[in-house]
Amino acid sequence: MIKIVLATNNAHKVSEFRSCLAQKGMEAEIITIKETGFEGEIIENADSFAGNAYIKAKALCDYTGLIAVADDSGLAVDALGGAPGVYSARYSGENATDESNIEKLLRELKGIEPKDRTARFVCAICVCRPDGETLYVSGESEGIIIDNLRGEGRFGYDPVFFYPPMNKTFAEMSSAEKNSVSHRGRAIEKLLQSKEFFEK
Ligand code: IMP
Repeated sequence: MIKIVLATNNAHKVSEFRSCLAQKGMEAEIITIKETGFEGEIIENADSFAGNAYIKAKALCDYTGLIAVADDSGLAVDALGGAPGVYSARYSGENATDESNIEKLLRELKGIEPKDRTARFVCAICVCRPDGETLYVSGESEGIIIDNLRGEGRFGYDPVFFYPPMNKTFAEMSSAEKNSVSHRGRAIEKLLQSKEFFEK
């Protein structure tokens, strides 16, 4: 079985990756940063999702000698000129939480009509192979930012990201539903179309 390092310690991302791979029938042993013993600091200072994904994947590939996969993702809101974008995780400051980020987002969007609250989640995935080859894929999902939080599950901005085709927020979806339409699910789908990249 192929062994892949997933360059994240975010439990939500790990479980979304594992369930996407299982849904698509790709057998792989997935280990996370913690399990590699890597203790260095990774500074994600690129100005694009793809650039940050590369920084993470390259660091873990170099450290382990294994194929490393990293994703970088975030929310781009049209009325805010694409913000929070690459700053999605720390939108409300250094000690940001999902709650404080959502609070700031809703404050910034106060008074803006529903039709002007269009937004998209973006996910860039980079895979680094020990022989120096890299692969990039990305996925997007379009929705609307609503004012009241809906749903229990998921993470980040999920409770305010309303996805019209399913009439649900991402937080109201089962994980299979979310994976089938989410930015990360779509990017992973493309990744799996390049299975041979993992097998070389
Ligand atoms: P990063 O990809 O680890 O840098 O994190 C990006 C940030 O974007 C997360 O901390 C979340 O706030 C947000 N984000 C990314 N993907 C999702 C998602 O699927 N649902 C909700 N928020 C997300």
